[in-house]
Amino acid sequence: MSNECTLSIIKPDATRRNLTGAINKKIEDAGLHIVAQKRLRLTDDQAKKFYDVHKERPFYKDLVKFMTSGPVVVQVLEGKDAVALYRKVMGATNPANAEAGTIRAEFAESIEANSVHGSDSTDNAKREVGFFFSETELVG
Ligand code: CMP
Repeated sequence: MSNECTLSIIKPDATRRNLTGAINKKIEDAGLHIVAQKRLRLTDDQAKKFYDVHKERPFYKDLVKFMTSGPVVVQVLEGKDAVALYRKVMGATNPANAEAGTIRAEFAESIEANSVHGSDSTDNAKREVGFFFSETELVG
């Protein structure tokens, strides 16, 4: 129950369809503050490293290929219970199971091209925020 940060990635399927603004509106409407944001193209190395925890999973190779297929927007979201709140705002990983009104229910194309990533724990949020941003880039 505290103010915390979480890492969000707007994925290539969403940037390709010009959905950054629509996704940011859902984030802000939920009360989360975008305190850092940049658009970039992940390198193969960066995507492999970021998703290292999934390296034994059958979808890892395709996931890395997809995440490097176009621009992404990486962002730090701040707010009360930001990690759990953003996971609610995103909806389930598989859009078929995502609750109505969530980002993935409205925008995701598939379980892989699911429009957004959000950290799954406060420990991972710290690691993931640090992967893309330095302390001075977070402007609350
Ligand atoms: P994300 O929150 O970025 O974390 C890992 C990603 O792997 C996940 O969202 C999906 O994009 C992808 N993913 C998870 N499960 C599968 C699956 N069964 N098949 C393909 N991609 C998956």
